[in-house]
Amino acid sequence: MKKIVFDSYDQLSKAAADFVAAEINSKPNLVLGLPTGGTPVGMYKNLSEMNKEGKVDFANVTTFNLDEYLGLERSHDQSYWYFMNKNLYSNVNLKEENINIPNGMATDMDAETKAYDKKIEDMGGLDLMVLGIGPNGHIGFNEPDSYLIAPTHTVTLTESTIDANARFFTSREDVPKKAITMGVGNIMKAKKILMLISGANKKAVAKALNEGIVTPQNPATMLLMHPDVTVLIDKDADQ
Ligand code: F6R
Repeated sequence: MKKIVFDSYDQLSKAAADFVAAEINSKPNLVLGLPTGGTPVGMYKNLSEMNKEGKVDFANVTTFNLDEYLGLERSHDQSYWYFMNKNLYSNVNLKEENINIPNGMATDMDAETKAYDKKIEDMGGLDLMVLGIGPNGHIGFNEPDSYLIAPTHTVTLTESTIDANARFFTSREDVPKKAITMGVGNIMKAKKILMLISGANKKAVAKALNEGIVTPQNPATMLLMHPDVTVLIDKDADQ
């Protein structure tokens, strides 16, 4: 695991965008896994600007998002599709047919999770997976537990994740209790991983990554077993 520390969130965001752009420039048909949340907003802003300036071309890129809430229509302003459309899809030349995000409104969730995994596999797997990290160590919505689930699956969010995400909703009660998420198996099969860690509330989970102990109680520690992980962290989150 390679770690690069930045003085500010802005510098981290620029470096994250440069990293993703370099991967696309070396493989224009990159299969790219993407997160939502507060952390990647700056990266998406930089990538949108770089695309407008002709520094990166999304025309042949395929994206797969990590997760989506259950029960929110795409048009809901807190759905992850809405977030991605606002922050990236509508700003760059990604083709609509190359955008993938789990369908949190699917009537048959078992079929939806299996179809999502099959589509990733049919594309040859993820070349690059970009990740954020929850204050409790979750990646995607793989929450701390006594076990982790490998394929895409539905999950009940922990109270701490509902607390953490309540800032985006009018009230805590509005935060969906369930989500559909890629599993740790999908993430670990990505050829390369870029993890973004920002803010003082991530200090404890960031520290655990330095300790070398892999535990399902801190799902991000699974990444210690991946051969190609780069962590971009700002100094607020670094110990
Ligand atoms: C969202 C996701 C989550 C977030 C995590 C951190 O797609 O995968 O694991 O990365 O909850 O969110 P922020 O960046 O808001 O702290």
